[in-house]
Amino acid sequence: MHRTHTCGELRITDINTTVTLSGWLQKSRDLGGMTFIDLRDRYGITQLAFNMETNAALCEQARKCGREFVLKVTGKVIERSSKNLNISTGEIEIEVTEFEILNESQTPPFTIEDNTDGGDDIRMKYRYLDIRRKPVRDNLLLRHKMSQQTRVYLDAQEFTEVETPVLIKSTPEGARDFVVPSRMNQGQFYALPQSPQTFKQLLMVAGMDRYYQIVKCFRDEDLRADRQPEFTQIDCEMSFVEQEDILNMFEGLVKHLFKNVKGINIDSLQRMTFADAAKYYGSDKPDTRFDMKFVELKSPDVETLHATSLLPSGFPVFDNAELVVGICAKGCAEYTRKQLDELTEFVKRPQIGATGLVYARVNADGSVKSSVDKFYDEATLKQWATAMNAAPGDLILIMAGQTDKTRKALCELRLEMGTRMGLRNPDVYSCLWVLDFPLLEFNEEENRWFAMHHPFTSPKPEDIALMNEGKFGQVRANAYDMVVNGVEVGGGSIRIFDKTLQAKMFDVLGFTKDEAQAQFGFLMNAFEYGAPPHGGIAFGFDRLCSLFGGENSIRDFIAFPKNNSGRDVMIDAPSEIDNKQLKELGIDVKK
Ligand code: AMO
Repeated sequence: MHRTHTCGELRITDINTTVTLSGWLQKSRDLGGMTFIDLRDRYGITQLAFNMETNAALCEQARKCGREFVLKVTGKVIERSSKNLNISTGEIEIEVTEFEILNESQTPPFTIEDNTDGGDDIRMKYRYLDIRRKPVRDNLLLRHKMSQQTRVYLDAQEFTEVETPVLIKSTPEGARDFVVPSRMNQGQFYALPQSPQTFKQLLMVAGMDRYYQIVKCFRDEDLRADRQPEFTQIDCEMSFVEQEDILNMFEGLVKHLFKNVKGINIDSLQRMTFADAAKYYGSDKPDTRFDMKFVELKSPDVETLHATSLLPSGFPVFDNAELVVGICAKGCAEYTRKQLDELTEFVKRPQIGATGLVYARVNADGSVKSSVDKFYDEATLKQWATAMNAAPGDLILIMAGQTDKTRKALCELRLEMGTRMGLRNPDVYSCLWVLDFPLLEFNEEENRWFAMHHPFTSPKPEDIALMNEGKFGQVRANAYDMVVNGVEVGGGSIRIFDKTLQAKMFDVLGFTKDEAQAQFGFLMNAFEYGAPPHGGIAFGFDRLCSLFGGENSIRDFIAFPKNNSGRDVMIDAPSEIDNKQLKELGIDVKK
């Protein structure tokens, strides 16, 4: 028998029991008369004690073992003289009487401890060693718990898990496809699914009523901390539902996960329209853990209202701007010149691209001092302070320019200020539905309309008239995103189930009838056979896990992730294939 207990299990109540443990040597300490080994497995660490006086041979053997040797020991559980109350087994140790080396190990290329000395690249190359580290292992255990609880909730709600194919035809989620050449149909390719979108809709036509799948999706897009080329969705679809039904059902899922995985009770979720999210936070995924809403001093909307009193002309940057908008950083009036310069540099970085930043301090005596004092008198500055709800001690930060760009830049500044002011605690969760997304967005480069979510998303019934009038930019969709702490964790929509409307949508998107038929004929044909009203959502499972784990990067919540160039450095993929394989696939062989 390799073990009677795990390395995380024994307590003071087990004293005098004879046990057998197996695991990896985490660390050994040779104190002359005694040698101690920390033996590790998935469950924890137990200290082994070898006594030179009572068993010199065993002690000598133990001293020869290096880090990560695989050991099996038998011995008696005894009370430790110096206890380590930081670990659950810290009150006991094993007085070893039998000892076996099950396998030797080379010295690992980095220390297998919570705080490792290994950089990202080396840890990825030896990912199997990295996973031996508790923080990484805990992330995978969290992920397991999340998927278990997801299944518990959805199963209780009558959802059926159905697997959909992986070798398919292109799905229109807006990223590039990964493609797989077909040997049997040379010159033709499968695409890997960007999502099971069309299949889940077909399952609704098929009468499955409530579908879900925890499923791999593949998108060939530029990678970031929250994006992987292959990632996992909790993909769901329901029949005979309206938007409100979906919001309630999946609000339920998120509450269930928070309660059962983290022990946190979430009140009902906030809701915000896309238009308000843009106006007050400059983003369709606002971090609502903190307030600091945008206040517009001049915008196409408010210009006629109070622009003249708030912004008398004189400062060309503001005079020429479409939008002048600011935030109020509570209690930051004491920021030094250096700190303000840092903020200006921050917004001028190419990724943000602002031309500058105006600030105004509201002093303790209520006076206001700004970086644009020479253009505006104090009465005007005080009006800004009032408009921004700024009290003595607060700092106002203002940006100006073209509406979308300025909002985006101020959004970054707001997040930066939130971080600096300690308002973005990863242990605090703020969940939000963003609603009423535009159905379509115009792409200047391609000079055509694109579906903002995907082409199967239905317009709001009250906006269909606008669609018929050709006012495509004003049509709102029955689409929703769930945002947690500024991260888009899920998105979905009520679908078009009427074939005439679906055909109209393809028409607006610039598909000819033949093109639509060639690409989506299977779905349009299915709609000829009694499609029920339906809708759904997909959650980014990796993102949900990283949020629950309190981290930004999804990589450490994926057992074997890709690096930022889309490579798996452990198995060295992608890699070239030999000419024989290429030939079989009918692909030109390399010279
Ligand atoms: P969408 O494209 O919004 O919707 O994707 C759903 C969620 O998947 C996550 N996600 C990603 N996570 C990691 N890496 C990526 N590359 C990546 N791309 C997306 C996000 C996102 O919110 N079929 C529709 C859903 C529907 O309409 O039901 C879809 O896929 O968290």
